[in-house]
Amino acid sequence: MKHICVIGTGYVGLVTATGFSDLGNHVVGVDINPERIEQLKQGIMPIYEPGLDELVDRNMRAGRLRFTTSYEEGLEEAEFVFISVGTPEGVDGEADLKYVRAAAETIAKTMKRKLIVINKSTVPVGTGDWVSDIITRAQPEPIPFAVVSCPEFLREGAAVSDFMNPDRNVFGSLDRAAAEAVAELYAPVKSPALITDIRTAEMIKYASNAFLATRISFINEISIMCEKLGADVIEVARGMGLDKRIGPQFLQAGVGFGGSCFPKDVKALAYMAQTYGTHPQLLNAVMEVNDFQRKHILLKLSDLLGSLQECVIGVLGLAFKENTDDVRESPAVSIARQLVNRGAIVRAYDPVAMENAARMLPEVEMMESAYAVAEGADAIVIATPWNEFKQLSMARLHDIMRQPNLVDGRNLYDPDMMQELGFNYRAVGRGFQGQGVNHNNGEHSS
Ligand code: NAD
Ligand code: UGA
Repeated sequence: MKHICVIGTGYVGLVTATGFSDLGNHVVGVDINPERIEQLKQGIMPIYEPGLDELVDRNMRAGRLRFTTSYEEGLEEAEFVFISVGTPEGVDGEADLKYVRAAAETIAKTMKRKLIVINKSTVPVGTGDWVSDIITRAQPEPIPFAVVSCPEFLREGAAVSDFMNPDRNVFGSLDRAAAEAVAELYAPVKSPALITDIRTAEMIKYASNAFLATRISFINEISIMCEKLGADVIEVARGMGLDKRIGPQFLQAGVGFGGSCFPKDVKALAYMAQTYGTHPQLLNAVMEVNDFQRKHILLKLSDLLGSLQECVIGVLGLAFKENTDDVRESPAVSIARQLVNRGAIVRAYDPVAMENAARMLPEVEMMESAYAVAEGADAIVIATPWNEFKQLSMARLHDIMRQPNLVDGRNLYDPDMMQELGFNYRAVGRGFQGQGVNHNNGEHSS
């Protein structure tokens, strides 16, 4: 049993604090947001994450998990402190480190005993050394400490199981003993542990996210070609993924990647590259393809409807992906906003993200179901692949729409079946979409 403090109780901090308490440690979660802490004390989850509420409840009752706004209380007995505050996108794409700086300064001013400071936030390479300097300078009197980078790889919507069964954990420090002590905290989860230097650990996080984002942009670029050439991107991805060197994951074409991390992390890595005089051409292309993917959905709608002015368009899904209430950088929100900008009357439904999305989309009418969205609509866009959108009564949906135009941005339905039902159906990268190949002699038409 160890005493652990976790600074920041968002998606990463709350899952980390809860996970460590479930492993038998005594954990205090600290956040500067008093409403969030008040909610947590009452057992109300500030975020939607499957399985998390039950785990928080169990560990709070067992007296292993507490929440406070006070660093003094959080650090009183702590041997380890995790920094898991936000690192949002700054002005030119660089990571904004103001929350990390504030957390490091407050830790330095509050700590009374030897401490291992673990950075879990995604931060530019070199931040660990910078945090070390901040703490040294801000300490009223010298107290020994070590800084370890332990980047987080969890996915929203699967965060609890990712904490308990990660593919790997990475620990980077100039102080090998400190890195090993942090690795020991994770020993019960029995994942491969990589102990390395601090800059390498920081780079592993960015390189991993950028690589996953690259796979998505790659398959999205292929999907555009598939549409023109009459190939099916789902089969293409399956055929590629069977090659063990490629693997099947992260090859789903769609509306482009979103969320609080891939877009900001790809841009932050590109910014880092530019700052140090290298040219991140692949990373720039990954973002360019991703931006186009959202526009591509709008082009499909224009193709079906002509002008979107006064058209009633329904958006199914607002979260950036399924099983989360997170709408940060959500392609669905961006699509809804662009539709509003083009004069469409937009309605939307999401099983859990409507409250968050409503703040960003005041002009969009939030409905109570997918069918309410479809009633009288001129077109529907499936923007988030929630399970409940996978088996809708499509015949009913067809009958209640004013015009049966369906843009399936997540390839949830079978193109032939949708055409048989009478939909004007457009998927991403499948269902021959008109222009392209003369199959007799292979010559291309326009
Ligand atoms: P979040 O915005 O959900 O939560 C951050 C929390 O930190 C907020 O509750 C905020 O009030 C609190 N905070 C800010 N400054 C503070 C301070 N000085 N002291 C105490 N609390 C403070 O963020 P998140 O999604 O959990 O992401 C945190 C970090 O982890 C980011 O760097 C992110 O890139 C990285 N990350 C996120 C995910 C994810 O799936 N969300 C996965 C891996 C890594
Ligand atoms: C991602 C990574 O998967 C995590 O390992 C990482 O810790 C996290 O970012 C982070 O650093 O924050 P997350 O953003 O929660 O996790 O979600 P993903 O499941 O990776 O999906 C990201 C986006 O890509 C979503 O918009 C999703 O719909 C999209 N996506 C994903 C695709 O379009 N196609 C795919 O094949 C996979």
